[in-house]
Amino acid sequence: MNIVDIIRKKRNGMVLQEEEINYIINEYIQNNIADYQMSSLMMAIYFKGMNDNEIVSLTNAMIESGEVIDLQNIQGFKIDKHSTGGVGDKISIPLAPLVASTGIAVPMISGRSLGHTGGTLDKLESIPGFNTSLTTDEFKYQISQIGVAIMGQTEVMTPADKKMYALRDVTATVESIPLITASIMCKKIAEGIDGLVLDVKYGNGAFMKTIGDARALANKMVKLGNLMNKKTTAFITNMNQPIGEKIGNTLEIEESIDILKGKGPEDTKNLILQLGAEMLVLGRITSTTDEAIRILKEKIKNGDALNKFRQMIEAQGGNSKVINNYSIMPHAQYIVQVAAEKEGYVKGIDAFGIGNMIANIGGGRIKITDRIDHSIGIELFKKIGNKVESGDLIANLHIRNIEDGSEIRELFGSFFEISETPVNQSPLIEEIIR
Ligand code: URA
Repeated sequence: MNIVDIIRKKRNGMVLQEEEINYIINEYIQNNIADYQMSSLMMAIYFKGMNDNEIVSLTNAMIESGEVIDLQNIQGFKIDKHSTGGVGDKISIPLAPLVASTGIAVPMISGRSLGHTGGTLDKLESIPGFNTSLTTDEFKYQISQIGVAIMGQTEVMTPADKKMYALRDVTATVESIPLITASIMCKKIAEGIDGLVLDVKYGNGAFMKTIGDARALANKMVKLGNLMNKKTTAFITNMNQPIGEKIGNTLEIEESIDILKGKGPEDTKNLILQLGAEMLVLGRITSTTDEAIRILKEKIKNGDALNKFRQMIEAQGGNSKVINNYSIMPHAQYIVQVAAEKEGYVKGIDAFGIGNMIANIGGGRIKITDRIDHSIGIELFKKIGNKVESGDLIANLHIRNIEDGSEIRELFGSFFEISETPVNQSPLIEEIIR
């Protein structure tokens, strides 16, 4: 087999065979295929696409390029949730212990913040002592003991994806549905799950800007998951404004704990309940969404969900006093208030702008090697559709350097669009693809 022939075949729009795809991935991770050849092949895939069989073969080859976590000795259904990334997206943090408190195992492998999007691991690390770098054995042990663990990808999982993703990032080949599908699904399937609920976001703060693109990606991932015997559902959700009222690492842990205490913003709570209910239905805890929601609400009300979060924090070395004392997490020295300059209705909030602003002032990463200041963030007091009077407080900006305060306030103000006429809120959940 020859890589040049394979590139030419895909360039001419032909279908690659399983053996060819296995050959490419094996040779690439052994450095026998050069980055320039892989880039060229991925650009050909970008333009010519892949059929379902090719995507299954690519995903399998990427899974087999590294370690697969074997959770078969752990009783019961194992399910994860994955979001394609957004601004203020803390959903996994309350969702994982909430679902685990019903008896389903939730092995969750999450990512770090990059660019405008936040990362679950960075958020959890706002909790003093919380360790997100578990070994595979520690991860498995924790799942067997308390039914939930959240960690980062180990060094030995899906190395082909790591290498290909880094290359896609610098060769304009990220936005390819077959490549994104294989990249996300190989990492999820390598966790040893039986089921997966995907939150595919669209809008100004998402990776997919239009609902059409999000739908196409969601359909592919659901089809692939089910072809690979993983019960998979995708939600398509709106990311045209940040999720919830707190954005930034420490602040998002505060909001997550509030939710587990039965408080917190309604839209965020509702998304958690809907995603969680789907996880319960796929895991056959119950057969209807309504009953699943009732169970989840009861787990919040009786404290089981919060208790599961406490167990997870302690199992991962964190200080669980955080549950009743948010001040043990890093908090910013300065809070700059932002007031509305005119009356009207909030029409738009540029989530992409806000996410980038937080990253630029130290609360996220521009480069993967950047250090994060967990204390940086924003509390949003007004969301799309809300009425504002001139002078109303719309946000608190948690910042590091007070000298930059006016500039940051001005920039933040430019992310808010106020209309004179009432504005309807779009639903947070647009579609569910099963
Ligand atoms: N996230 C991933 O893990 N892979 C992609 O290709 C895109 C987003």
